Amino acid sequence: MTTPVIRVGVIGAGFVGSALLDLLLDPSRRDALEDAATASIEVVAVAVRDLTKLRPGIPSALLTDDAAALASSTDLDVLVEVAGGLEPTRTYIESALARGVSVVTANKALMAERGTALARLGHQHGADLFYEAAVGGAVPILRALRTSLAGERIERVMGIVNGTTNFILTQMTEQGSDYHAALAEAQARGYAEADPTADVEGYDAASKVLILASLAFGTELRDEQISRVGISGIRAVDVEFARRSGYVIKLLGVAERVGEHGLSRRVHPAMVPVGHPLAAVHGAMNAVFVEGAVSGPLMWLGQGAGGAPTATAVLGDVLDAVRNRVSGRHDVPFMVDDTLHRVPAGDLTSVFYLSLDVADQPGVLAAVASVFGRHRVSIQSMEQSGVGDEARLSFVTHRALTRDVDATIDELATLESVDSIGACVRVIDGGDQ
Ligand SMILES: NC(=O)c1ccc[n+]([C@@H]2O[C@H](COP(=O)([O-])OP(=O)(O)OC[C@H]3O[C@@H](n4cnc5c(N)ncnc54)[C@H](OP(=O)(O)O)[C@@H]3O)[C@@H](O)[C@H]2O)c1
Repeated sequence: MTTPVIRVGVIGAGFVGSALLDLLLDPSRRDALEDAATASIEVVAVAVRDLTKLRPGIPSALLTDDAAALASSTDLDVLVEVAGGLEPTRTYIESALARGVSVVTANKALMAERGTALARLGHQHGADLFYEAAVGGAVPILRALRTSLAGERIERVMGIVNGTTNFILTQMTEQGSDYHAALAEAQARGYAEADPTADVEGYDAASKVLILASLAFGTELRDEQISRVGISGIRAVDVEFARRSGYVIKLLGVAERVGEHGLSRRVHPAMVPVGHPLAAVHGAMNAVFVEGAVSGPLMWLGQGAGGAPTATAVLGDVLDAVRNRVSGRHDVPFMVDDTLHRVPAGDLTSVFYLSLDVADQPGVLAAVASVFGRHRVSIQSMEQSGVGDEARLSFVTHRALTRDVDATIDELATLESVDSIGACVRVIDGGDQ
């Protein structure tokens, strides 16, 4: 029997694309890939922006700067998109799917914004759309949700899905660095961009939460905003308070059921008890913690970024797409569960940690405490530290409604004796919602 040949085009030869091509074009891997794919994989073209850049390992005959032509080629079985960005990438992917060409992408931003429509387009035309590398880099969490856990009722997904922020918070925890020094260290090591906004303000994590939730709970991937708080307000004193209290601060992406028909999706820093598996996720690593009704707790851990680790996830998708091509199978259609309604972040309850810089004068504590009381937020513990300009009050509340805590903060900000509001961080205590 002759081995089928599957033709693969790649758009992008940057960090991820070049690492993927190293794997696909390595002659010593050819037989193993052929066995795994049940076909011979022929890379037919690699589209880039700049043809003058040196690209060791990629034969120049494969290179083109006409990505549009590659995406609309009729002589292609699988298109790999590792260029990034929303446009013209979306147009390229639509063009391929509409011709029945399966697509593999690592593009979290595009999938979070357009995933359901793209998957439906592919399904309509008998093409697969795979995007494992869009969440958690090398961590195979999407495939696990899509296949192994397809029949499980997922209660909650909590992830450390942004390596940059986890690196910064780890530096703050382990080295006692302040936020700006930790960010500068992340930039020096190539973990953070010159403009770190997408990472530190939680936008990147929010895209990943949307993608995780779509597979865990059947929500649609369309242009949607979720509640998002980043880590730029976290100070060394907050990290130190957490440490003394038996917690570590992590930026969490959370998607969870609330009651029978509610769903909350959000990104925020949280104090995680040191004994929780997510507390042990250090540096730029990623992890996703899943609680299934029957399976109980499960966790995946690994490198969430980096060209080579991410390329392994892309390669896994390429092999899946190629095998499906050969067998004529297709992935299951995108499931949407219309019965779940979105629960606003304000309706959720949690224990909160809140720190305030205050004037060092009599009566401040009473004034502050009365604001908490007016908004029905009861105080579990309070710590007073520093003197003069450094005077600070740190509170841990009892379980309270987020909207009441927000109202408390708004009113505290108007007090003359409150110089500034520091971090407000949810405390994970087991019964969180
Ligand atoms: N890097 C990671 O650790 C990581 C992890 C998970 C997911 N991802 C995702 O993977 C994708 C690629 O990331 P990356 O880090 O590899 O990016 P990158 O290093 O910036 O590489 C992008 C590549 O795409 C090419 N490109 C960009 N726009 C193009 C266009 N319009 N037409 C043709 N080629 C185009 C660029 O060409 P030139 O070389 O000519 O500039 C470059 O080769 C993104 O969606 C990213 O979010 C990355």
